[in-house]
Amino acid sequence: MSGGMGENRMQRIRVTASRTYDVCVQEGLLARAGACVAGVCRASAAALISDETVFALYGETVKASLEAAGFRVVCFLFPAGESQKNLTTYGEILHFLAACRLKRSDVIVSLGGGVVGDIAGFAASTYLRGLSHVQIPTTLLSAVDSSVGGKTAINLDSAKNQVGTFYQPALVLCDPLALRSLPEQSYREGCAEAIKYGVMGDERFFSELLDTPVCEQLAHVIAHCVMIKRDCVAADEFDLGNRRLLNLGHTIGHAVESCSRYTVSHGYAVAIGMTMITRAAWKRNICKEETLDRLCAILERYGLPTETEYTADALYEAARSDKKISASTLELVLPEDIGRCRLEQIALTEFPAWLRDGGAR
Ligand code: GLY
Repeated sequence: MSGGMGENRMQRIRVTASRTYDVCVQEGLLARAGACVAGVCRASAAALISDETVFALYGETVKASLEAAGFRVVCFLFPAGESQKNLTTYGEILHFLAACRLKRSDVIVSLGGGVVGDIAGFAASTYLRGLSHVQIPTTLLSAVDSSVGGKTAINLDSAKNQVGTFYQPALVLCDPLALRSLPEQSYREGCAEAIKYGVMGDERFFSELLDTPVCEQLAHVIAHCVMIKRDCVAADEFDLGNRRLLNLGHTIGHAVESCSRYTVSHGYAVAIGMTMITRAAWKRNICKEETLDRLCAILERYGLPTETEYTADALYEAARSDKKISASTLELVLPEDIGRCRLEQIALTEFPAWLRDGGAR
């Protein structure tokens, strides 16, 4: 993918939650990470946590920058992939931090996508009851979503993200240049999340994404998504209300991911989930057919899927084990129009009918 052109000024988005921090977006930030980290904490040591794939691309740049800023840098690397976001890797990170004598005043710097940010954030929130965490997202999906807002997590066999904390980072550094090397699929996944923000709450942004490809306005898209997320997090840090609108497409999406044993990636599953819930909303007169048509058109423009082979029964069984579902009810995010959604609780037993209305067999 190509990068965005135009003026390279830093965009700084302040997130106000239990901790106030900035999300900085600028090309070339990776090479200046050390000075930025030094600006937010007085740590003497920095634990750089990354996966092997990302570290091979950007690790030395960030490490050198941290060292130049005066940090003693220790690096913990693990193989790339969602399957690594588990108790074993988490335990290894804690033992590593202890062996390297990281103190509470030190800092964890995570360099990578959502898996790295989530597990490093969980370690940062629990080791010594919490030390500073700086997120450096290197996928579009983590830049527009998971690096901001303080949700940390690891997976258990029983469900994804079943263990975690709310723990806001001290800083998020996003370098659009680092996203240039993304594989096409990873880029598209991030586009699905960006489209989600448009459907959820910003019709104008949705139109911008339709008119101009994300890769031609990368810094703008990241900053705009972060601003929407910033507002959700400021209003509802602990996910008790409207922050849950960010889960648009996720209830069905998680079921698709789970049915596929995670061979369908998160962003693709969210694209399918958004389409299915919008189709069901149209069938139930919650939105117009035009809303569904516009959504399908933009997802197809970005090469994202809109259908799944899994049956309503299979998806229902998968959804029942989702951690967000209490014994008898489930929450859906329902599009009323492009740019406007609402939350609705339904009885779990009604879900198969929603899935069939969404297009599942
Ligand atoms: N990814 C959804 C949230 O942060 O609430």
